[in-house]
Amino acid sequence: MAAPTPHDTDDWWRDAVIYQVYPRSFADGDGDGTGDLAGVRARLPYLADLGVDAVWFTPWYLSPLVDGGYDVADYRTVDPAFGTLAEAEKLIAEARALGIRTIVDIVPNHVSDQHPWFRAALAAGPGSPERELFHFRPGRGPDGARPPNDWPSQFSGATWTRVPDGEWYLHLFSPEQPDLNWAHPAVRREHEDILRFWFERGVAGVRIDSAALLTKDPALPDFVEGADPHPYIDRDDLHDVYRSWRAVADEYGGVFVGEVWLPDAERFARYLRPDELHTAFNFTFLTCPWEAGRLRRAIDGTLAEHAPVGAPATWVLCNHDVTRTVTRYGRADTGFDFAAKRFGTPADPELGTRRARAAALLTLALPGSVYVYQGEELGLPEADIPLDRIQDPMHFRSRGTDPGRDGCRVPLPWEAGARWYGFGAGDEPWLPQPATWASYAVDRQSADPGSMLTLYRRALRLRRSEDGFGDGPLTWLPAPRDVLAFARPHGLLCVVNLSGEPAGLPPHERLLLASGPLDAEGRLPPDTAVWLRG
Ligand code: NOJ
Repeated sequence: MAAPTPHDTDDWWRDAVIYQVYPRSFADGDGDGTGDLAGVRARLPYLADLGVDAVWFTPWYLSPLVDGGYDVADYRTVDPAFGTLAEAEKLIAEARALGIRTIVDIVPNHVSDQHPWFRAALAAGPGSPERELFHFRPGRGPDGARPPNDWPSQFSGATWTRVPDGEWYLHLFSPEQPDLNWAHPAVRREHEDILRFWFERGVAGVRIDSAALLTKDPALPDFVEGADPHPYIDRDDLHDVYRSWRAVADEYGGVFVGEVWLPDAERFARYLRPDELHTAFNFTFLTCPWEAGRLRRAIDGTLAEHAPVGAPATWVLCNHDVTRTVTRYGRADTGFDFAAKRFGTPADPELGTRRARAAALLTLALPGSVYVYQGEELGLPEADIPLDRIQDPMHFRSRGTDPGRDGCRVPLPWEAGARWYGFGAGDEPWLPQPATWASYAVDRQSADPGSMLTLYRRALRLRRSEDGFGDGPLTWLPAPRDVLAFARPHGLLCVVNLSGEPAGLPPHERLLLASGPLDAEGRLPPDTAVWLRG
């Protein structure tokens, strides 16, 4: 038995630090160039030492990997590229023994076109019960050559693909990801069964992919800007799905985190009602520019929207879909917007790193849980992927204008002097690692008191050992313009300077941690944050 951690309670998720593992790029145990479960198991001591409470794994199921595993062919099998189900079970148990809970990623909106249900639907033909599990329709126009409606894709390009017998099927993402028909009882039954399958294997939580997209207007009407209700986003009948899911999770003490991209705070909070999802990712905060006023509004808005439903906030700076924090904060436009992604946007890595360090202390001091995406603790920048190595469908479907998401998915550097920086000992990694990444390697950073990794290790240790972090109230303190200063319980203070001038610190007894050195007068330089004990 592991020593109990401060988070060894039923409501651990209310203030947990959750580390996101993208298995393909974390560590390659078998030397084939693709990260795998053996690699993760070997590196569990690293995660325990970092001080995280849980790990969220992006999909590890059987998949053609057209969309990095978000195209699932079998939700109950681990893809051979990653390992076996038995290994996943071992990994879940070994992590738990080190005090780390496991969160798996369920993809309910769509399956892979290689999923047996979709293959059967193709084979069975128009009008068959097999096709009812998906959205198959005849096309429009005299010869049915026009798609059934004009919905825009989440991945740019068409949302309908025609099959040889003339029918079309709906896919909000790529054609290899046909959307399931959530009005069909078998689809609901199947997913509740998949939840049980993983909860029975000891997982503590489930991340729900594209959680606001599942149910569709049965008439599949054309898209009208501003239509309310929307034909496929945030439809009311979705809450019924999540209420049933919650009942399943409650049997096992499991928790949910929803991927809910919704601009409307009130609509977002509905997913977090006590009988629905426990938590959802805070994309308002993730996309927010590095500006004091905007960040403060995002924080206040988040806390205000969560309070009435009693759900804890989550704080997220990046993930496997978005530009890495260090790069984004080093640009002229520090916000994130999928539609604005372009090749060659200039970034100042030193400025971005300084801000990312400050942002780490900011997020870890806020009330709620925090997500850390693998490599964020190393301060990895977004990598430029040579055109001929890009794999992400988002790039191809944008007709090459969007660089895609591979730049934040590059295999991690573990050892500065090793081949492939110690990611694996065999074949070249599936995405190329920049030649300049030795300085980001875990071994190099472990030995450097000024590194990003050392900052994260210290911050996570303090977050566990000191009072005042996690759940609880936040009170803003008077502060100079563009300086964020707030108090947490037990006299814990956090000050973040987003102005261009050094800022004086409030009275305090002890400085717990600073994201960078104070100036000679003991003031907080621009783009720097501190934790104080008042
Ligand atoms: C959101 C996931 O995070 C992303 O990586 C994926 O491409 C889409 N959902 C589709 O599953």
